[in-house]
Amino acid sequence: MDRIELSKAKTFKGTFSPPSDKSISHRAVIFSSISKGKSIIRNFLRAEDPLSTINVLRALGVDIDDSGENIIVNGNGIYGLKEPFNIIDCGNSGTTIRMLSGVLSGNPFFSVLTGDESLRTRPMGRVIDPLRQMGAEIIARFENRYPPIAINGKKLKPIQHASPVASAQVKSTILLAGLYADGETEIIEPAKSRDHTERMLPFFGAEIKVEGLRVKIKGGTELKSTDIYVPGDFSSAAFFIIAALLIKDSDLTIEGVGINPTRTGLISALKEMGSDIELYNVRNLSGEPVADIHCKGGADMKAINITKEKIPALIDEFPIFCVAATQAEGNTTIKGAEELRLKESDRIMSMTTELRKMGAEIIEFDDGLSIKGKTRLKGAFLESYRDHRIAMSLSIAALIADGTTTINGISSAKISFPGFFETLRRLTK
Ligand code: S3P
Repeated sequence: MDRIELSKAKTFKGTFSPPSDKSISHRAVIFSSISKGKSIIRNFLRAEDPLSTINVLRALGVDIDDSGENIIVNGNGIYGLKEPFNIIDCGNSGTTIRMLSGVLSGNPFFSVLTGDESLRTRPMGRVIDPLRQMGAEIIARFENRYPPIAINGKKLKPIQHASPVASAQVKSTILLAGLYADGETEIIEPAKSRDHTERMLPFFGAEIKVEGLRVKIKGGTELKSTDIYVPGDFSSAAFFIIAALLIKDSDLTIEGVGINPTRTGLISALKEMGSDIELYNVRNLSGEPVADIHCKGGADMKAINITKEKIPALIDEFPIFCVAATQAEGNTTIKGAEELRLKESDRIMSMTTELRKMGAEIIEFDDGLSIKGKTRLKGAFLESYRDHRIAMSLSIAALIADGTTTINGISSAKISFPGFFETLRRLTK
């Protein structure tokens, strides 16, 4: 049975290193696959989503060895991919299907990308429309909106694209397609999304310029192999940060976490709410800032407002932030977060429905919600919607609830965090 029973934790203590960063792992293997030569990826995340990316690239003829500790990619350059023999399955991974559609639009062969039931309901128009403007030949299900996506690769032309959404997947897709266009391709975002692509691609020799919310790439540049170290994933660390802050007498150290400022909006929010959280031992690895994080439990938290411009830096932490908000005094309001309805599940609906079952007082808006705290949560029978971040967030809620909580669909945690429940057990002992 794919469910777990959890009950209240007394303390949350110890030291742990989170799994490697999912976004950076995807990028490291995609960029190495279209570079010339042998790249070594250290500390790659062997979870279902990045493994989907490896499978896709192997289906495109790339030689990827993951038999040892590191991933070794033998790339053949930007035109080194081969026409796949079958349709390609991207599993649950939005990053894989979107970023690869940018690469495949510029490769002169036919390919079809699809994914699981959740991925086949995720919007692709946001990448298909600009790629078509670049001259790509792409069709997709439901008036070119949803996967499967069929691509007939072509020589592309550069565009200047003002994206209506702040999305790192859209930005990265256009930048990758820009490699296959003569001249300079530019993407302008309404707010800054995670910038791992802009940081990592230059290590492979790409010419990228960042000017505020504008990012430009020079087409036609051949990429060359390099070695990449993947830091710990802040989004995975976030579950344990909140657990430690909410459970009295907790003391937790999390080592080697990526603290890229485009990802750590949750830290600023938690500090503003009054929590005891500290970063130290800050260093730089493969162009990404990394730190150790120390959290102490039990400080009183007060409600805050999160507005639209702050959403991109905490987009994936919304579900776990909602759990924290139930324990803050006052009304915590999150607005301008309509993108959350388009993730692995409709995360506004998922968290509203499930936390209400535990007794939380929530008002749901089209673009967010308002949570009234502080509420004593009670155990309930909960649904994960097969969304990894919902399953893990509800597990942390269960640790502060009275009675027993059952969560259905917990194997979804393996999408980004294999071993989540083992770590949870170890730290609550
Ligand atoms: C990701 C970007 C974000 C994020 C997703 C990973 C990435 O999605 O939610 O988990 O690796 O670029 P959007 O670009 O759709 O906001």
